[in-house]
Amino acid sequence: MRRLKTLTRVPEVKKHVREVPAISRVEPPGCPNKSFEIERLSVFYGGVQAVREIDLDVEANRITALIGPSGCGKTTVLRCLNRMNDLIPSARIEGVVRYRGDDLYDRRVDPVEVRRRVGMVFQKPNPFPKSIYDNVAFGPRVGGFKDDLDQRVEMSLTKAGLWEEVKNRLTDPALGLSGGQQQRLCIARCIAVEPDVLLMDEPCSALDPIATGRIEDLMQELKRDYTIVIVTHNMQQAARCSDMTAFFTAEVSDDEQRTGILVECGTTEAIFTNPDDERTENYITGRFG
Ligand SMILES: Nc1ncnc2c1ncn2[C@@H]1O[C@H](COP(=O)(O)OP(=O)(O)OP(=O)(O)O)[C@@H](O)[C@H]1O
Ligand SMILES: [Mg+2]
Repeated sequence: MRRLKTLTRVPEVKKHVREVPAISRVEPPGCPNKSFEIERLSVFYGGVQAVREIDLDVEANRITALIGPSGCGKTTVLRCLNRMNDLIPSARIEGVVRYRGDDLYDRRVDPVEVRRRVGMVFQKPNPFPKSIYDNVAFGPRVGGFKDDLDQRVEMSLTKAGLWEEVKNRLTDPALGLSGGQQQRLCIARCIAVEPDVLLMDEPCSALDPIATGRIEDLMQELKRDYTIVIVTHNMQQAARCSDMTAFFTAEVSDDEQRTGILVECGTTEAIFTNPDDERTENYITGRFG
């Protein structure tokens, strides 16, 4: 049987308690610079096809922005990258999603392990109704990390740019933080379990411009250690902070069915200054969408 290079597989016969393996930052051979390779990915909700035959590579330690009009399938594609679509009973995928060379949808791959390696930050900050400390400590506790929890919480909050603001109030309720602080807390909560990738679905849409700027600055720092995929409706944000941009749109069939397709992906500079496709140009110049 071919051994997975990077993901722990669920044993086929019986489950047993296992230690969470240390993350190796060593690139596996064969996929030096790519976190994900998406090939002919189609997603269906029940009988309705939401996206069709997406081909997209996501480069490691880069920020990739997914842009496009509402309903074109950005969230759907993002959710495929950490198997969140598994949690939607009607969702079904076709095609291949490879994570660091491994088939993410191989039936022996543990989706819980996938979601630890590939964390998600949502549009609306969603801290647990617990203390600031317990929010960050939650994942390491559940995941059985055996090292010093205080240190891990401090390191995660520091990386998320929140430590100085909360170090004297760690036992306060997380829900008492501002929206921008809550979003950085959610980033710290992801970081605490040593992910490799951060998926962000419109992470700033509920934030004011100052809090948005802090998250954007933070993303630049985080990309040294993490691959980031961000969905945004904010063209300036995509242009400011991403390295690569993928433009999606929805095709409408004769019977009014809308199906998302990837129009093009390239460096952010190329997509915003010299796109190949007229549909991209119309979108980024505000003539459509
Ligand atoms: N859980 C679901 N069940 C059924 N259909 C869904 C579900 N989630 C999304 N869809 C459908 O899939 C299509 C793509 O939706 P998706 O949320 O991925 O688009 P999006 O590009 O993220 O849009 P927005 O910019 O508004 O967030 C839409 O037609 C949507 O109605
Ligand atoms: Mg969405």
